[in-house]
Amino acid sequence: MTTDVRQPDFRIDPQFTERWSPRAFTGEALDRGTLMTILEAARWAPSGSNLQPWRFIYGLRGTPAFETLASTLAEGNRAWAPQAGALVLVLSRTQRVVPGKEQPQPIVSHAFDAGAAWMSLALQAQALGLHAHAMGGFDRAMARELLGIPNDHELHAVVALGRRGDASQLPPSLQERERPNGRLPLSALVAEGRFEFGS
Ligand SMILES: Cc1cc2nc3c(=O)[nH]c(=O)nc-3n(C[C@H](O)[C@H](O)[C@H](O)COP(=O)(O)O)c2cc1C
Repeated sequence: MTTDVRQPDFRIDPQFTERWSPRAFTGEALDRGTLMTILEAARWAPSGSNLQPWRFIYGLRGTPAFETLASTLAEGNRAWAPQAGALVLVLSRTQRVVPGKEQPQPIVSHAFDAGAAWMSLALQAQALGLHAHAMGGFDRAMARELLGIPNDHELHAVVALGRRGDASQLPPSLQERERPNGRLPLSALVAEGRFEFGS
């Protein structure tokens, strides 16, 4: 999908501007094989020392696991995300046991690595004609408790996955936002040599 707000400053592969996060999903359940293909892409993300700290807990629509994940969502996300075909919690291991050290050592890149895995997941979904929408708006303490997640794992986002539905099913305020958004100019994000950014 190309829009006026999605014109890159430099020519790039269209997969990057065509990926976006819709809220209207069809309500069809994702099949497990398709979900595994999407998670397989995440598996091949790069990570510090190849520690692969990312973990995924999923629920397919229509299952108790999906309902549990949906119950943790913030109210604004509960207005649309339960129509997704699957929900996937992205978390990462924050510590590891290093031979010769008594205390577990922090995995300093765990969040960076989980972010890379999430993007791989999103681009694989898009390559299959599906969409992924990450949500930071969920109750982390509740999810930790309900899903039995130990303290040495950090919870990052619940991702809604599925086929794009009709925007008319969304609440009016969300219908207006159901389109790809823009980005800051590259000049505001990139500096040569030192911390000096344009606007
Ligand atoms: C870590 C993270 C948390 C997000 N949390 C929410 C959320 O709680 N609810 C929501 O509707 N969108 C959420 N989003 C979606 C962002 O608003 C969206 O990715 C951003 O506006 C860029 O739009 P795009 O993904 O369509 O390119 C989140 C995205 C990320 C990466």
